Amino acid sequence: MKTRAEVAHTPQSTSSLDVVIFEHPQGCRSFLINDKASGQTLALDVHLDLVDEIAAQVRSHRWTLPYVVDTHTHADHPSGSAALAALHSSTRIAHERAGHSGVARHPKDGDVLHLGDQAVTVHHCPGHTPDHIVLGTSAGLFAGDTLLIGGVARTDFLGGDAGELFDSIHRLLASYPEETVLYPSHDYNGQTSSTLARELESNPWLAITDRAEFVSSLTANPPPRPANMEALLRLNKEGASIPTEIEAAEAIERVREGGAGSILDVRTGVEYQSERIEGSVLIPLDQLASRADEVKAIPAPRLLLCRSGSRAEMALETLTRLGLSGLSVVRGGLESYLKAGGETERSGEHISLERQVRIAAGALVVIVTILGFGVHAVFFVIAGLIGLGQVVAGLTNWCGLGLTLARMPWNQRGPVETKQGSVGTCAANAPASCAANAP
Ligand SMILES: [Fe+2]
Repeated sequence: MKTRAEVAHTPQSTSSLDVVIFEHPQGCRSFLINDKASGQTLALDVHLDLVDEIAAQVRSHRWTLPYVVDTHTHADHPSGSAALAALHSSTRIAHERAGHSGVARHPKDGDVLHLGDQAVTVHHCPGHTPDHIVLGTSAGLFAGDTLLIGGVARTDFLGGDAGELFDSIHRLLASYPEETVLYPSHDYNGQTSSTLARELESNPWLAITDRAEFVSSLTANPPPRPANMEALLRLNKEGASIPTEIEAAEAIERVREGGAGSILDVRTGVEYQSERIEGSVLIPLDQLASRADEVKAIPAPRLLLCRSGSRAEMALETLTRLGLSGLSVVRGGLESYLKAGGETERSGEHISLERQVRIAAGALVVIVTILGFGVHAVFFVIAGLIGLGQVVAGLTNWCGLGLTLARMPWNQRGPVETKQGSVGTCAANAPASCAANAP
């Protein structure tokens, strides 16, 4: 699978450390920081979708991975730290105020980690969250969600504090030279690094030197909260895993909490246009492989939805094969969702793909049976094969007739793409992000 993350691998050669940057379509950045001499490597802010890719990178270079670090408790995406650390027997690291299950080491402000002879200094930088740490290295400053490129992190959830963020950022600016490279863990405009000098010159938040003014600007208009925030916190703090299937009632709860943008509807465009969950994202089943990056951009945990659940299970298999994770099938699909009291928006009637399969299979059997009586007995065999095909489809959940019908012109109408609902991230100046709004 060709992803933006693979394209964005950028080993930097400015120090004794290599920095490999992994871009996630959701605006997240994960990093590998490698000591060239020893091969010892630290993974930082690993997104669950990127675990396989990052593990492959470590293996291909024959590096070792002693440390897997989270700069803070992520509220906008699932952390892949536990999964990656398990693959490489790494020590997981986070600040003690994070309270993450499975984290073995909690460095204090000023503590130093070692990659070979290279020092990685841990700075406790509360503000975005109380548990936030920043890593200082000879390659640059890995700022997590403190100072972003052209922005700063938001502070309106998880115990954030705008005044503490101001103090943390200015302490870092006073401690590192202006030419220091800045690697934030989020960017919503496709950038991966900056320098402190460039930020001092152009970041509007750094132009505010009065703490009280910074606090009032930052807290004035908080962006929408991240989608699925409560579910993500359970995953990232308690180590809960994402189930492969959830009940329709839980999907309704997620939608009511503002998580409709995490529902991936894999029916045909016509079915979607006829009836849909408002804010859900349409990517038909037969287009998933070519649009995997669009799936990644949907905030996890993602819910896979179809009419009855069968196509969503096929979608789960397809996407898992492509290396995506954080996916749950809504059991019973839209039918169960409606029965459980879920609301949809409708605009016209349409025969669902399941009904089309029943009609087509039945009609074919009738036609070839007639041909068997009137033309040649071989058509009875064909009728039997059609019946056998339906039995196999029922047993394996893979229906060739359904996939063929989905490609028919009458099923291709409908919206080409859907507008994703409010998703919420960590920036203050990106729509619903971890960043703050521009001052
Ligand atoms: Fe964040």
